[in-house]
Amino acid sequence: MADIAGFKCAGIIGGGQMGAGIAQVFATYGIKTILVDINPKQIETAKTTINGSLEKLASKAVISLEQKSAGLSNISYASDLNSLKDCDIVIEAIIESERIKTELFQSLDKIVKPSCILASNTSSIPITRLAAATSRPDKFIGMHFMNPVPLMKLVEIIPGIATSEDTTKQILDLATGLGKETSRSADYPGFVVNRILMPMINEAFNALMEGVATAEDIDKGMKLGTNQPMGPLTLADFVGLDTCYAILKVLHEGMGDPRYAPSPLLAKYVEAGWYGRKTKRGVYKY
Ligand code: 3HC
Repeated sequence: MADIAGFKCAGIIGGGQMGAGIAQVFATYGIKTILVDINPKQIETAKTTINGSLEKLASKAVISLEQKSAGLSNISYASDLNSLKDCDIVIEAIIESERIKTELFQSLDKIVKPSCILASNTSSIPITRLAAATSRPDKFIGMHFMNPVPLMKLVEIIPGIATSEDTTKQILDLATGLGKETSRSADYPGFVVNRILMPMINEAFNALMEGVATAEDIDKGMKLGTNQPMGPLTLADFVGLDTCYAILKVLHEGMGDPRYAPSPLLAKYVEAGWYGRKTKRGVYKY
């Protein structure tokens, strides 16, 4: 079994689009990977997503046939956190709720071996606060992958105030070994990517709410006018409007600045259960 920067076995918690993508990347690079979700239906969805993605990436020669078979054979699925006890790293990619994440890390801290590094894929919750819930804040770090994980190059690395330089270096080496580029951010609300991305998405909702332009024109303007792969409203549907809303609330509360207040139109869509692609209705219908 391969290792990258000394990491032989990885646990990923959460079988949603981010967790499944992260597990897929680790497995493709030869790491023994255990994907844990308490919901058996979510595990089935993750399996289907991962198998479909490996198939597609191999058919387009984005990954080799060896990577595809490594991706298929290196992942096992579990519903119990105890299956992670021998992992060298565990990455949490569950719902963006500080309370639920904190409880999870408290349990995990008691299960995994002392040398295991704990990482969160949180898009905006303070790493320092999550780390403080464990007995190993020096071995706790933010690893913020971008969606879709198998295709996006970047991993944002966020050391908390107590994270050791040794842990940070190991995680930078690990991400590089997984074929990713890294950018390092201090532990402030939204880190770098979401601090800059989410206000743009929010402004697109405000422009839509004020009738400045149609959704299609806002997206076309930004896509073709600023060379982005997709317009901000299409991207919001892709990321999940509930996720965008949660991140904006963290930015708003964390910075105490009204300019981060979520757009009332975004809030209304979320209240309606229009979360974007995953619910087949967001700004657009799918
Ligand atoms: N695995 C395999 N294939 C995938 C995939 C995955 N996980 N996700 C999407 N694809 C495939 C689609 O199925 C589709 O395949 P098809 O062409 O056979 O139908 C293809 O990718 C999409 O095709 P496109 O022609 O649109 O585009 P590209 O292949 O050129 O690029 C993209 C796709 C990389 C997703 C590009 O559209 C992009 O860069 N979009 C912006 C993504 C972005 O900004 N992500 C960051 C969001 S912010 C974030 O994640 C932070 C979080 O905290 C909120």
